[in-house]
Amino acid sequence: MTLRRVNVLILVLLAVAFLIIVQRNLLNLSEFLHKEVPDAGMILPFESELSPDLRSETVRKGEEIPVLITATEERLGAVVAAMNSVYQNSKANVVFTIVTLNDTVGHLKLWLSKTKLKNVKHKIVIFKPELLKGKISEDPQTLEAAKPLTFARFYLPVYIPEAEKAIYLDDDVIVQGDIQELYETNLKPGHAAAFSEDCDSASSKGIVRGAGNQNNYMGYLDFKKEDIKKLGMRANTCSFNPGVIIANLTEWRNQNITRQLEHWMELNKQNDLYSKTLAESIVTPPLLIVFYKRHSNIDPMWHIRHLGTTGAQNRYSPQFVKAAKLLHWNGHYKPWSRTSAFTDVWDKWFIADPTGKFQPVRRHTGDN
Ligand SMILES: *[C@@H]1O[C@H](CO)[C@@H](O)[C@H](O)[C@H]1NC(C)=O
Ligand SMILES: *[C@@H]1O[C@H](CO)[C@@H](O)[C@H](O)[C@H]1NC(C)=O
Ligand SMILES: *[C@@H]1O[C@H](CO)[C@@H](O)[C@H](O)[C@H]1NC(C)=O
Ligand SMILES: *[C@@H]1O[C@H](CO)[C@@H](O)[C@H](O)[C@H]1NC(C)=O
Repeated sequence: MTLRRVNVLILVLLAVAFLIIVQRNLLNLSEFLHKEVPDAGMILPFESELSPDLRSETVRKGEEIPVLITATEERLGAVVAAMNSVYQNSKANVVFTIVTLNDTVGHLKLWLSKTKLKNVKHKIVIFKPELLKGKISEDPQTLEAAKPLTFARFYLPVYIPEAEKAIYLDDDVIVQGDIQELYETNLKPGHAAAFSEDCDSASSKGIVRGAGNQNNYMGYLDFKKEDIKKLGMRANTCSFNPGVIIANLTEWRNQNITRQLEHWMELNKQNDLYSKTLAESIVTPPLLIVFYKRHSNIDPMWHIRHLGTTGAQNRYSPQFVKAAKLLHWNGHYKPWSRTSAFTDVWDKWFIADPTGKFQPVRRHTGDN
């Protein structure tokens, strides 16, 4: 009799506990689903938290290393290869924030969940193009060339609100070193970001001039314009490449970096401040202005670039490329296209698209 009563009591307690747990999780989930980042986009829940086949031994622990990357539909293969290279070459607790457009979410989720990337922690954020209204030209041609997602890096603290330090990576990179090492890059007090400079690095060796490469501020900004002149910057100052950024988000917020960047976008829209020699670059100039003499440096081996430019094949030896910690195919020739350098390196990290939509163009194997 008493035994039965105890059993019933235990059952009731278990049921209550179960209900509490379920309710909490449901609340959590709905909280997550409805969480909106003010003005900049919507965060979708962590795949990994919803993924039923995530075994505990595959979950990485320890300090989180937040990495922001953007995902463009036409080059989704790039993001996947970049993420894979970061993840496989490190044991660190990497958490990706992937900023993308609404139409790409389905394809991206499928690619991540149906491949070996399914254990990689990530959240998907939808970029709202309205964010750029009034800040870049509305001329459809410029808008097209502007590629809205390239501005996502201006909003780092908005997309990664919980972190103090974060990494931004362009999608056309492959990471060969341990990302932890990059994350530990020291930022000087008062600096909100670190970049790789264009004249002191291994990458500037034998740089091709005139083909879209430049290594100083003059290449990006029109020093004849009053708005630029009055800043008193030296035109021959070495520029930097914002394809890899280490950011102190506390400093970024304190200094209102995002607001400052937006200010220069708006000014440029009115007064056309950027140099015409680098047609593609409307993302770099505001960063060059805001971070003029106020940024730290990234170890040159952590940003070996210009792999996507003419002559890249001859610029670096295979040994050098192998030793590089991070490779960047900036330039016109991307490693998933037909004529690019060091595609074999990129191919090692690429994971085939389960939908078959994305196919790297390869000379001999492109006939399927
Ligand atoms: C879920 O809720 C619990 C308790 O409120 C909290 O500790 C936990 O961090 C929440 N998880 C998420 C993912 O919000
Ligand atoms: C995003 O895409 C979904 C389905 O693909 C659609 O139902 C929804 O209306 C879209 N949202 C926006 C803001 O475009
Ligand atoms: C970031 O900047 C803040 C404010 O200057 C500083 O207190 C903090 O130590 C910095 N954090 C890192 C990781 O550098
Ligand atoms: C940043 O913006 C806030 C609010 O607009 C302002 O109070 C603060 O002085 C600004 N800080 C800097 C360093 O410009």
